[in-house]
Amino acid sequence: MKILDGKATSAALKADIRAEVEAIVAAGGRAPHLAAILVGDNGASVTYVNNKVKSCHEVGFKSSLIKFPESVTEEELLAKITELNADPTIDGFIVQLPLPRHINEQLITESIAPEKDVDGFHPVNMGALALGQGQLVPATPAGIIEMLERYDIPTEGRHAVVVGRSNIVGIPVSLLLSGKYKKGNCTVTICHSKTQNLPEITRQADILVAAIGVPHFITADMVKEGATVIDVGITRVADESKKCGFSIKGDVDYDAVAPKCEYITPVPGGVGPMTIAMLMKNTLTAMKIRQDKK
Ligand code: GUN
Repeated sequence: MKILDGKATSAALKADIRAEVEAIVAAGGRAPHLAAILVGDNGASVTYVNNKVKSCHEVGFKSSLIKFPESVTEEELLAKITELNADPTIDGFIVQLPLPRHINEQLITESIAPEKDVDGFHPVNMGALALGQGQLVPATPAGIIEMLERYDIPTEGRHAVVVGRSNIVGIPVSLLLSGKYKKGNCTVTICHSKTQNLPEITRQADILVAAIGVPHFITADMVKEGATVIDVGITRVADESKKCGFSIKGDVDYDAVAPKCEYITPVPGGVGPMTIAMLMKNTLTAMKIRQDKK
């Protein structure tokens, strides 16, 4: 069993990005600029956004954090998005999800200019991904593919089973694994809450992606001997032994499943750090795409 170390892999990727940014700046260019909009004070969202800002500094990007109270109106949020869309000094921006219930997430996502949508959630970017032309690809799925690439894990012709069909992970990772992409060309099965005989299907997986959001949902009996298991879960579970009062649990029962695997991602320290590194990569890509169009 080998661990897919997201911490080390993301550090290597961020070092590559930093070197590229330094070369751009040395040649007279400017550093990429990422903006993040944060609404309210949801603990997990605050942590994620702070980590995104910290990563910007690590790779030499400029960053802007724009905070709104929970009570912000849809109009106020849309006005800020219109401003960021038009601002030539901003290469990409994200609106951290989830948003309060009075705000239509779909409307917000669709109001971001596709060329600045470094989350890759806009229908134009998701459509391009489905057509095999993805450039701004959602960061978590892109991070999974990057890890398969850096560990040289074969995908072509293999059976990948994805559990979960979210717009953020399940659907885009299925498109990447099945498409004509590097580390694509898998046969992909997508499972979800209505799937029957789930363990029978997951046991067929050469590559199993767990993106359900239910701690320790994937048990040892659901995994084939020698599989590669990618755990996307990051649920906060109350834990009095921790200073912060919670611990992070993955979707995979790691201790029981790991001995059966060829490769497995730990939680924390697996997919999570890769997601942020890929957001940085997308921001650099967004800057290059816009500059090429000029
Ligand atoms: N909430 C959970 N994951 C994400 C993500 O990748 N991007 C944004 N904007 N919000 C999220």
